[in-house]
Amino acid sequence: MDAKHILLVITGGIAAVKAPELIRSLSQHGFKITPVLTKAAEKFVTPLSIAALARSRVYADLFDLKDESEMGHIELSRLADLILVAPATANVMAKMAHGISDDLASTILLATDTSVMIAPSMNVRMWDHPSTQRNLNLLADDGVKLVGPNVGEMACGEYGLGRMAEVTDIVSAVEQFFQSGPLLGKHLLVTSGPTHEPIDPIRYISNRSSGTQGRAIAAALRDLGAQVSFVTGPTNLATPFGVKTYQVETAKEMHDVVQKLLPVDGAVFAAAVADWRVDGVRDQKIKKQTSGALPQLKFLENPDILATVSKHAQRPKLVVGFAAETNDVIENASRKLSSKGCDWIVANDVSRSSGIIGGQNNTVTVLDRGGAEAWEEMSKTEVAFRLAERIAGALA
Ligand code: C5P
Repeated sequence: MDAKHILLVITGGIAAVKAPELIRSLSQHGFKITPVLTKAAEKFVTPLSIAALARSRVYADLFDLKDESEMGHIELSRLADLILVAPATANVMAKMAHGISDDLASTILLATDTSVMIAPSMNVRMWDHPSTQRNLNLLADDGVKLVGPNVGEMACGEYGLGRMAEVTDIVSAVEQFFQSGPLLGKHLLVTSGPTHEPIDPIRYISNRSSGTQGRAIAAALRDLGAQVSFVTGPTNLATPFGVKTYQVETAKEMHDVVQKLLPVDGAVFAAAVADWRVDGVRDQKIKKQTSGALPQLKFLENPDILATVSKHAQRPKLVVGFAAETNDVIENASRKLSSKGCDWIVANDVSRSSGIIGGQNNTVTVLDRGGAEAWEEMSKTEVAFRLAERIAGALA
């Protein structure tokens, strides 16, 4: 298949400094890129570096006669399968919404009949301003696709909505636009994060899971074209783009949501579900006793979501469990493979000394009925991609 062609319009926001990373990632995903820079964008990135990374000539000037003889703005606006504006400033959004064409980028955007996607980036007040929101609605009516913006720290020191979407999210949005990937048409379910088991309205029992690995798996499956339902306990992570997210607190809630989502083609249970919940959760805060008497907690066993789904009448074709162990990792994991009835177990050592819990790297062993496959240490994102590819192979 021919590589899809993206006309990347880089406008002059601070997030333009992410353009090289975006170009690199889009190229790695097999897209061909032709860059267009506005005058303001050239203050943040140089045409030379962009041309080198994109392995393409950079277009910048509307009145450059050489451009007109080689390729006019009309031709430029038609050559791509998608026009991606990243970052998209409030200014370019306003121009697009009102048909202003006073430079090459805005003229291309007015002349095109190709689909357009924008990744806005601006200060939170500019984003919140009624005129930007009005323009956004006009652009949505015109069929312009939107990725981001995200909430976060801004270059100006303020915090809020307006940060450009992460490069990985923009690339995913582009991939979804072209609907490519070996998992296209497949529905995958992923559980992630810890659960919170309440003691009283204020206190709860939980664990140290950050949800990083599960979130990365949901994103990697999405990148391979899957429809992903992501059921997550409380974490500090942003919800992944383009994934249907269900936020739950307790194991019981997670269990109920998962049951309702069946049938699915495959399920990955990466959540660190609490094994026990407190019996008789108090509806008022437990007070410290002046007598010094300590509260007594009684526990009940939580439903085992992985085991339930593995034995379910609507069992997915592929069920993947995790085994977070602090000792005898492989023995415990292979026992889990048969006792839970799943197809694969992804085992890892989560002893505090391994640094895996809350860290960015992971060292896993994937067990199935055929044996154990030890993977070298890699980032959680890389683990997610390799696992997603293995899942795509199994569901093919
Ligand atoms: O038994 P253990 O908690 O070690 O099993 C880990 C695997 O089982 C993980 O995949 C986890 O998501 C899943 N699990 C579950 N429901 C539970 C406990 C664990 O789905 N109540």
